[in-house]
Amino acid sequence: MCGIIAYIGKQKAVPILLEGLRQLEYRGYDSAGISVIQKEKIITLKAVGKVVELQNKIGERDFSGKIGIAHTRWATHGKPSDKNSHPHGDCEGNIFLVHNGIIENYQELKNILIKKKHKFLSETDSEVLAHLIEDFNKTLNFKKSVLEALKLVRGTYGLAIINKNEPDKIIIARNGSPLILGIGKDEFIVASDASAVVRHTDKVIYLGDNELAEITADDFEISNIKNKIISKKISKLNWTVEESKKGGFSHFMLKEIFQQPEVIGNGLRGRVERFLLEESVPMLGGLRMVEKRLRKIKKIVIVACGTSYYSGLVGEYMLEEYAGIPTEVEYASEFRYRKPILDSSTAVVAISQSGETADTLAAIREAKNKGALTLGIVNVVGSTIARETDAGTHTLSGPEIGVASTKAFTTQLVVLALWTLMLGRQRSMSNVMSKRIAQELKKIPKLIEGILKKSKEIQKIAKKYSSAKDFLYLGRKYNFPIALEGALKIKEISYVHAEGYATGEMKHGPIALIDENFPSIFICPKDSVYEKNISGMQEIKARGGKIIAIATVGDKEIARIADDVIYIPKTLEMLTPFVSVIPLQLFAYYFGVAKGYDVDKPRNLAKSVTVE
Ligand code: AGP
Ligand code: GLU
Repeated sequence: MCGIIAYIGKQKAVPILLEGLRQLEYRGYDSAGISVIQKEKIITLKAVGKVVELQNKIGERDFSGKIGIAHTRWATHGKPSDKNSHPHGDCEGNIFLVHNGIIENYQELKNILIKKKHKFLSETDSEVLAHLIEDFNKTLNFKKSVLEALKLVRGTYGLAIINKNEPDKIIIARNGSPLILGIGKDEFIVASDASAVVRHTDKVIYLGDNELAEITADDFEISNIKNKIISKKISKLNWTVEESKKGGFSHFMLKEIFQQPEVIGNGLRGRVERFLLEESVPMLGGLRMVEKRLRKIKKIVIVACGTSYYSGLVGEYMLEEYAGIPTEVEYASEFRYRKPILDSSTAVVAISQSGETADTLAAIREAKNKGALTLGIVNVVGSTIARETDAGTHTLSGPEIGVASTKAFTTQLVVLALWTLMLGRQRSMSNVMSKRIAQELKKIPKLIEGILKKSKEIQKIAKKYSSAKDFLYLGRKYNFPIALEGALKIKEISYVHAEGYATGEMKHGPIALIDENFPSIFICPKDSVYEKNISGMQEIKARGGKIIAIATVGDKEIARIADDVIYIPKTLEMLTPFVSVIPLQLFAYYFGVAKGYDVDKPRNLAKSVTVE
């Protein structure tokens, strides 16, 4: 599920592949490997750990090969080890491949191949593919062998394959895991992620599911699984090389936290203005085609995972309160296996930074089958979810490299707030109300800038609590999802136990955990549930628990109860998540850094989860 890079052209492949692997590092992985075709031989090198380990193995050796494939692995079958690292080969060492995804029926296929005397070297599901292709390659050419092998496979794959018997080409194929074919000058670069392509070319083809490409140094041909040649649109990448650098910050995560005023501004520009007009126009660019259907929508179901799921929960409060549309938010991984009651008056909305999350994609496909309107709130332009939904709005946060999502979250909130205005105006929201919300939305970037200026203060508080092993995050209404998000952030990058709860629910169980070593973080701006939050805080205090409060500037009362207070600026209740999440992102960041962890690449995690 992690990263693939392949090169064919006039330059030496190894340096390009290594550079590509370094670009893919941010996605999280446990081992890396490389295969090059050189002088009618295939040379393969693998190493557990960082790309630099692989580089050390390569050392001073100068490889002249101009065709190669490389991989960063996020183990699903078999622990991280040299033998389980990709590329995987066949019995004769003729065919080598890199695979992202999971072959679900690998055991069944492996048993058949073992009976046919194939010798397996790894515990992975992926190796089965190399032997299967080898089996067909005894009678069929390379491409046909791949096609026949893929017909027998159940599961997800992004694949790049080389074959010593047809040494002038790379074959790539995709089902479920992303693959991009970069078209350079006299060269082609294949990668699972735009970050590895952008320094070579901005002309790309997004391979679709059940598609395969045969690539030589000067040409390529794309066909579907039935071997029918298809023509595909060449798209332009909207990434720049600059965007994939840290720009003076110590981590991508910190850079991305600090980029929020700018990217929120980008998300609002040209969109929010229409709700400020004397007669506001309830429409947004990417939704124009479905305008009529949107007016008839009676229910919204949001499907997403992780942080994107939490932004969906904030969206639920916004859409129900201001657009008057019943809204449900579901973990995409659960939705796909339930029997959801959907019809053409339901809009199913996928929220995803990457646009490649396997569970979210499957949920959207299920919704489509049931006749629902499918919409996307996606960051990565050209990603599978962006392409497969009927319509949608891009979040425009730019590439998010840090595994822990920050700017993607707040820009998702921007789109959800704009959708609330649009859907609300299509229904009963008054012009005055839409204007008021739009005016406050426009102020958000400035308000966040103010919080970021206080980052040193937040760093001090994070240091003060650095020995804590547990945290309880509490909030109500719009800030209940922020409690969940705050807890997820600190879990991801600091490996401490944290739980997010609705303040009102705390007394039904979690309060039993509280003692002087179990601090609570209360998100309690001056909103309609402020007093209820204060009561919860008193209950914690009465049991000796330490309290950090995220409170509205000017709230002196709270300083008398909480041990530490981080002040956030005043805004509309509906928009408080924009400002309350920022201190929690910074708190998690500084907490992780204080513990000495690599916060950009937390252990066990991958940036884009393209397996179930
Ligand atoms: C966020 O910090 C996480 N790394 C993770 O929960 C993420 O939000 C989730 O995997 C969904 O990803 P997506 O937005 O790309 O679909
Ligand atoms: N399932 C394969 C393995 O465990 C591929 C994992 C990946 O996508 O990185 O090796």
